[in-house]
Amino acid sequence: MSEVFVAKAIPGIERLTSYDVGVWDGEGPVPRNVLLSGVSEARGLLSMLTDAIDAPLLEAASHLEVVSQMAVGVDNIDLASCARAGIVVGHTPDVLTETVADTAWALMASVARRLPEGEREVRAGEWGPWEFHHLAGGDLHRTVLGVVGMGRIGQAVARRAVGFDMEVIYSSPRESAPEYERVGLEDLLSRSDHVVICTPLDDQTRGLIGKTELALMKEGSHLINVSRGPVVDTDALVAALISGPMAGAALDVTDPEPLPGDHPLLDRDNCLVVPHIASASVRTRNAMASLAIDNLIAGLEGKEMPARLPDAGVG
Ligand code: DGY
Repeated sequence: MSEVFVAKAIPGIERLTSYDVGVWDGEGPVPRNVLLSGVSEARGLLSMLTDAIDAPLLEAASHLEVVSQMAVGVDNIDLASCARAGIVVGHTPDVLTETVADTAWALMASVARRLPEGEREVRAGEWGPWEFHHLAGGDLHRTVLGVVGMGRIGQAVARRAVGFDMEVIYSSPRESAPEYERVGLEDLLSRSDHVVICTPLDDQTRGLIGKTELALMKEGSHLINVSRGPVVDTDALVAALISGPMAGAALDVTDPEPLPGDHPLLDRDNCLVVPHIASASVRTRNAMASLAIDNLIAGLEGKEMPARLPDAGVG
């Protein structure tokens, strides 16, 4: 039984040698039973976004003092129960902001210009003669970018719009970027050519984009999600991808996740799905690992974490 449990063998865990450390070094997320027994004597836990840090886990982890999550989003952690148990929680904001924003733009460009459809066609040996309307999509330049959730990541997405001469509007619970126009969600949906979701998942944002909201979207527009899958109602999205008014969606995150290979979203040519990789540049993943370990060590030593919640959220 170890003093610290690390739910993934990430770079830098050798910095924890002064502790008795248990590590999950298998493929994929740590199995629940391994996690539960790993935390049974632990003072510190380094968690991944795939680990449910819920009431039963906290009950099994009666010595836990510190949770350090290697992600900015913490919707997998029962923060209220952690607070009640006096457990400090850290996460990894800032270090991933620009990489996630890059990915949001990659998704936006790909779906608007229908790149995956073109690529599939070429690989299938179906590249026919040049045709006037073939795979004609939407533009990025001189269009309207609507950012839902104007935190750190939302602002980084918005900053990139300058080079494309786009108008940026945003919806957010509070004014966080006075240089852009803040509007209500309905207004944003009806005015934007590209809607990029950057909001954290919480009780207020779960199911934020459902049938009614998707119906408000502009004809030919695109929805891009780099936050968490449950912010969008999946069934409503499938229906909107079939009958509009949107032209397509590009998703880094889905509900459920992972998405089964036979899911209806994957039947849609106008839907691009990638497997939750928005922060997955080598440099950024290393920076996330390093910050998560810094947080963990600070917490274990009773010092202020570099990134301690309530500085929470995807944005
Ligand atoms: C996060 O850190 O919350 C992201 O989803 C990881 O890509």
